[in-house]
Amino acid sequence: MTAASAAWWQRGVVYQIYPRSFQDSTGDGIGDLRGIERRLDYLTELGVDAIWISPICRSPMADFGYDVADYCDIDPRFGTLSDFDSLLTAAHARDLRVVLDFVPNHTSSEHPWFIESRSSRDNPRRDWYVWHDAAPGGGPPNNWISDFGGSSWEWDEATGQYYLHAFLKEQPDLNWRNPAVRDAMYEVLRFWFARGVDGFRIDVLWHLVKAEGFPDNPPNPAYRAGMGEMHRVQQLHSTDQPEVHAIASEMRRIADAYGERLLIGEIYLPIERLMHYYGRDTAGVHLPFNFQLIDAPWNARGLAAMIAEYEAALPPGAWPNWVLGNHDRPRIAAKLGEAQARVAAMLLLTLRGTPTIYYGDELGIGHVEIPPAQVQDPRELREPGLGLGRDPVRTPMPWDATPNAGFTTGAPWLPLSADWADRNVARLRKEPGSMLSLHRRLLALRRAHPALSIGDMALLDGVEAAPDVLAYERRHGDERLLVALNLGSAPQELALPAWARHARPLLSTLESAAAPSAERIVLRPDEGIVLARTSAA
Ligand code: NOJ
Repeated sequence: MTAASAAWWQRGVVYQIYPRSFQDSTGDGIGDLRGIERRLDYLTELGVDAIWISPICRSPMADFGYDVADYCDIDPRFGTLSDFDSLLTAAHARDLRVVLDFVPNHTSSEHPWFIESRSSRDNPRRDWYVWHDAAPGGGPPNNWISDFGGSSWEWDEATGQYYLHAFLKEQPDLNWRNPAVRDAMYEVLRFWFARGVDGFRIDVLWHLVKAEGFPDNPPNPAYRAGMGEMHRVQQLHSTDQPEVHAIASEMRRIADAYGERLLIGEIYLPIERLMHYYGRDTAGVHLPFNFQLIDAPWNARGLAAMIAEYEAALPPGAWPNWVLGNHDRPRIAAKLGEAQARVAAMLLLTLRGTPTIYYGDELGIGHVEIPPAQVQDPRELREPGLGLGRDPVRTPMPWDATPNAGFTTGAPWLPLSADWADRNVARLRKEPGSMLSLHRRLLALRRAHPALSIGDMALLDGVEAAPDVLAYERRHGDERLLVALNLGSAPQELALPAWARHARPLLSTLESAAAPSAERIVLRPDEGIVLARTSAA
């Protein structure tokens, strides 16, 4: 691959915006599209290439936009279609791509399709959703459990049947076995592609098709109290059915018809099953989201094995991708602390493949305590106290030290992170050693060195003597870089491969990088470094 032949989404870095929490422009305490447009210069200065905006379509907000009532309109809380067009134009003028969230598995229960569907058993849209008679002895048709707890089936008194909802009862699942549903949803893709969007992140892609006959899911032997009720069963029959791949391919064909557009699939599956979403005989999505880093135990050997397994499993021609966090999962700095979150940022931005940065992670926002009276997330409200709530990772972006961190002139919809007065954009961008400055430097480094964006990667052998070090080489043309990450809190001495002796330090996660001696390098606690081969070596 050359810089010229690589697609924008292969070279580039994606930045996820949770729109309710990025920038409010109206004073209602909720972020909006004009707010995002106001902050575009921040994103170009940061150095990302694309933004993925979580759902902005018209929605009753039972699940904060993942319950869509009109796929072709903007929710008034976020603005209007013309605000969207303006944002898109402004982003494109800065060479920033815009990726939207597409929520195809379910609509809102207030979507006109569902209102029609539930109006009578013989309504022409009845079969657009998944309806089923009660089990022979009464009760739900099977044992499927909603991801937010409780049965996946909701009884509809008026028509005497159950409907399926993998998430809230306000999010009825569409019936993707019905060709009319497919056509209608493909029209939604075309609507936005024609408007100029650069791609979609497809919500719960692996959920779209359910097993014929709706058999019970098998119990999960690993289930323990406190895990969340959904884990009582394995989602064997309710997700990841073979027919979903044809649908992904149909979406891909539509995307390809508009030029260089991107489809990212949200898929939580083991590596081997995840790979099928790249497509087999026909192309699937460009990037089946790779969430391995989110759940991986944080140790060098384990991560090296996981990276090797993921790389080895990629089908020919498939492009990798990496994620450290999103609007559903705990923040990386909450999990690892800031020192290792810095190392994690270097990992994310130097691995082979497209990285996605979650808004606020570039500031190192950690865990945010949400007082019970301020909980908003339906997941927390349904299964409280298990630590599954997602409000802590959705708090407003702290821009500066003015009231409400410059996020809103009104009352923010969620509390701010406790340390916002210190940990905010205005403050951190002035500190050369801050988490934000580290991100900017990493992104600039990635842009300056094709080895990091499009180069090959090889994990380093012979690091047994430095058990906490994860090290790999990135290579493109004549350029050869070494990334060495100390995942522990003790110094680690690493013997350098012959080509990296006398290598030149390009960047350290700590203040300054120590030059290696000819043969070895000593990584300080929590230090990650990038070294470049000197022409002499
Ligand atoms: C996955 C999304 O990321 C999550 O936020 C949402 O609640 C569910 N899908 C349902 O759409």
